[in-house]
Amino acid sequence: MHCVLSLLFKKVTLLVIVYSDNSMIHIDRLEYYIREELNKTAPRTTVVLHPVKVVITNLDNESIINVDAKKWPAALSNDGSSYYKVPFTSILYIERSDFRKNDSKDYYGLAPGKSVLLRYAFPIKCTDVIYGDDENSVIEIHAEYDFLKKTKPKGVLHWVAQPSPGVEPLKVEVRLFEKLFLSENPAELEDWLSDPNPNSKEVIHEAYAVLSLASAVLGDKYQFERLGYFAVDPDTNSEKPVFNRTVTLRDAYSKGNLALLKRKESRWVVWTEKNNIIFSTKLFNATQAIERIIRLMESWTQL
Ligand SMILES: *[C@@H]1O[C@H](CO)[C@@H](O)[C@H](O)[C@H]1NC(C)=O
Ligand SMILES: *[C@@H]1O[C@H](CO)[C@@H](O)[C@H](O)[C@H]1NC(C)=O
Ligand SMILES: *[C@@H]1O[C@H](CO)[C@@H](O)[C@H](O)[C@H]1NC(C)=O
Ligand SMILES: *[C@@H]1O[C@H](CO)[C@@H](O)[C@H](O)[C@H]1NC(C)=O
Ligand SMILES: *[C@@H]1O[C@H](CO)[C@@H](O)[C@H](O)[C@H]1NC(C)=O
Repeated sequence: MHCVLSLLFKKVTLLVIVYSDNSMIHIDRLEYYIREELNKTAPRTTVVLHPVKVVITNLDNESIINVDAKKWPAALSNDGSSYYKVPFTSILYIERSDFRKNDSKDYYGLAPGKSVLLRYAFPIKCTDVIYGDDENSVIEIHAEYDFLKKTKPKGVLHWVAQPSPGVEPLKVEVRLFEKLFLSENPAELEDWLSDPNPNSKEVIHEAYAVLSLASAVLGDKYQFERLGYFAVDPDTNSEKPVFNRTVTLRDAYSKGNLALLKRKESRWVVWTEKNNIIFSTKLFNATQAIERIIRLMESWTQL
């Protein structure tokens, strides 16, 4: 079932579920269950979607320090299979959105003079920034790493380094999805066709990934640290792995609402992209509904 889940999750996120009394079930609820499942079954890995270059000025440009990254949050230190090796080298990449020219109290990313922890590796401190001609776009960040790990910064960032000096990281394609419609229930609208979310799909053609993702095959699913859960897309090939985001890590759904959902007995209706009712059936809980959706998706892929 897990395999099917990872294959079909993307389509599931395009669905909207409503009760027969027309009250909406937030897609957040469905996503809550998906996250619960994937938290247990999807190993952690690292991808930087919008890379900005960081040069570690106090590390020799020929050095490669292999650090242990966790595949599972609860990995025991004596369980080697729960870790994977990643190289830390003098040229690495962080998310563009994790750097700001102006620091502030509530900001945990990198800024001039500020330190952050590169997860599983070292704290780094930004010592210099090279800006483009517009004086705002960041070309390159210079930083020093604290190899004794004495600094304890609040912010923790994900990162991908050059696997060896002068070699670019693995490039992967990543497709991000958001809800297909802007309103919660497009069926309520007179003109639901005018409601699609313009940001429902974003394709990033060249994200940087750790090398272990080169061997990802269809059916594999991962948590990209800080970014969400992703499944390997059928378009993937040996030259370029392709991943679809199933859900982000954000969890807007509280335990209180969950209890309510479990108690409620109702009829579920599933709407597709085209707003066709695919099924309308009496189900007693969300687990059943999700199982039903998965079976349905299986039959779709067999067509
Ligand atoms: C990934 O997204 C593409 C659309 O960009 C879609 O055609 C494909 O079915 C999705 N793959 C999975 C595994 O959901
Ligand atoms: C994910 O699973 C770990 C145990 O492996 C648990 O400690 C953590 O709270 C879970 N995270 C979420 C968001 O459920
Ligand atoms: C950063 O701070 C400077 C000076 O305080 C200000 O002029 C500038 O607009 C700020 N930039 C951003 C992106 O907030
Ligand atoms: C490393 O630095 C040396 C001296 O600055 C330079 O000659 C060499 O080309 C650099 N190597 C790489 C892989 O960038
Ligand atoms: C929900 O449905 C599943 C599958 O039929 C069942 O195993 C589970 O016990 C049900 N949970 C609740 C809270 O009724």
